Amino acid sequence: MATNLRTIAPHTSLPEIESLMVTYDVGRLPVLEGDRLVGIVTRTDVLRQVGQQSASAYRESHHPAHLTRPPILGNLVERLAPQLREILAIAAHQAEERGWHLYLVGGAVRDLLLADTDEWVIITDIDLVVDGYHRSADVGAGVELARSLQSLYPKVRLDIHGKFQTAALLWHKDPIFDSLWVDIATARTEFYPYPAANPEVEASSIHQDLYRRDFTINALALRLTQPRSGELLDFFGGILDLQSQQIRVLHTHSFVEDPTRIYRAVRFAVRLGFEIEPQTEASIRHAIASGIYEQVQNRQTAGRVSAPALQTRLKSELKHILQAPYWKAALQKLADLEALRCIHSTLSLDDSLAWQLRSLDRWLRCLDPRQTIPHWQLLLEGLIAHLQPGDRATVAQNLQLSSESHDRLTQLEAVQSHLIENLPRCDRPSQRAKLLKPYDFAMLMLIAAQSPRPTRRQIWRYLTVWSQIKPTITGRELQQLGYKPGPKFRQILDDLWAATLDGQVNDRPQAEAYLAEHYPQQND
Ligand code: CTP
Repeated sequence: MATNLRTIAPHTSLPEIESLMVTYDVGRLPVLEGDRLVGIVTRTDVLRQVGQQSASAYRESHHPAHLTRPPILGNLVERLAPQLREILAIAAHQAEERGWHLYLVGGAVRDLLLADTDEWVIITDIDLVVDGYHRSADVGAGVELARSLQSLYPKVRLDIHGKFQTAALLWHKDPIFDSLWVDIATARTEFYPYPAANPEVEASSIHQDLYRRDFTINALALRLTQPRSGELLDFFGGILDLQSQQIRVLHTHSFVEDPTRIYRAVRFAVRLGFEIEPQTEASIRHAIASGIYEQVQNRQTAGRVSAPALQTRLKSELKHILQAPYWKAALQKLADLEALRCIHSTLSLDDSLAWQLRSLDRWLRCLDPRQTIPHWQLLLEGLIAHLQPGDRATVAQNLQLSSESHDRLTQLEAVQSHLIENLPRCDRPSQRAKLLKPYDFAMLMLIAAQSPRPTRRQIWRYLTVWSQIKPTITGRELQQLGYKPGPKFRQILDDLWAATLDGQVNDRPQAEAYLAEHYPQQND
């Protein structure tokens, strides 16, 4: 039962009706006058009408150009940077020689269509699909094409993966592209043996290959081979959705089959400034209400095979979102859809978590502008840290976070209580600094984000001031002053550092005076 019915009005023209039926693959169009249902037009009505007209006269006079034949947008490929065009032309030629069709598919076509036509489009992630002319290409076609391309570009790395072989060519540190991925697959269909399973695949046609994809705007293909190279295949209304800025799934089970698509829908909607089309949003809510995530998590705990792969895909989507400039809006949208339950059934974005993440982000941008640690990873840890302490390690493990992240999340509660309890007991900066020193930058950032103001202040002071203060005398200088290296050395240096933090020692003469008073040399 669809709620986003395609409807027409009494004055809708025949070509428009045909266009709607073809684009949205609907067989019946209710006719509305205002809010009132006044009739219905079926496919048979259209056929009868078309049959009565002379086909050629009809086509010439009425048929919308994009329906007469699929659009040939020769200039679409022209929008790509010339070097990229050259690679695609060579790949297309190689495919033609073997009697195959080659298509540019997925995000690259979408981005080409959305691109500003005045500038060349730089795409660093290209997806190609090989298909046969009259019947599906052999499973190994994509790999064969990749091998043949690699023989022409010997410096390029070739990876072949998967049971259903796909090949990836990588131009790494290339003087022209810097880095370019070209994935080549053979047209295939995917089956999901049960909800949220890993898809099983088999060779198929380009139409089926596109139908297995997530959204209409990602299910467009641009033919690169002759004849009709430059033809745009749009079986599911992708161009209309690009024009009306809608994220629309191809079928209502899409999110049940692959829950990470919920994150993708939100990512594309926020990134492109599109709306999630109402029926698609309803499908997302339905998938979440059906408890799909709990099933995934239970499967994970039960050790079923597919869950780790699903969690890896989820982590990769979270990474995409959390490292994008629009992460706050995306997270809010995910929370509105209750999709954070995918990470853990109790996770939601309340005001305090939203505040903590914004604060974490501000601190990271200020204190680690060069991203010595990946900021998305700490934001993800910040999200997980909002869970009950007992649940944090499980989620970190499910998402296969690094062992450092896992350890931080496991130790967070104890370290935080230790600091909140002991920091107020310290009188001097050196005592506070010593208390904070054992913990790494990332741990302190997580604790700061979650802690009350006084603790945050001390951590900020430690990170910006105290940890930056260098001892007034180095170990080497200590030796030159006659102190013998040994276990006491570290203690002398630590004491000097503490005295500097507390303002007792500000320069070299004061440091020497401090040493003479507290560590007089026996032999002198
Ligand atoms: N795809 C899908 N379902 C997924 C992931 C990917 O159907 N869960 C399909 C889509 O057709 C998508 C293509 O695989 O366009 C390539 O995926 P990806 O590279 O992740 O996305 P892009 O669309 O290329 O977008 P981006 O610009 O973010 O890389």
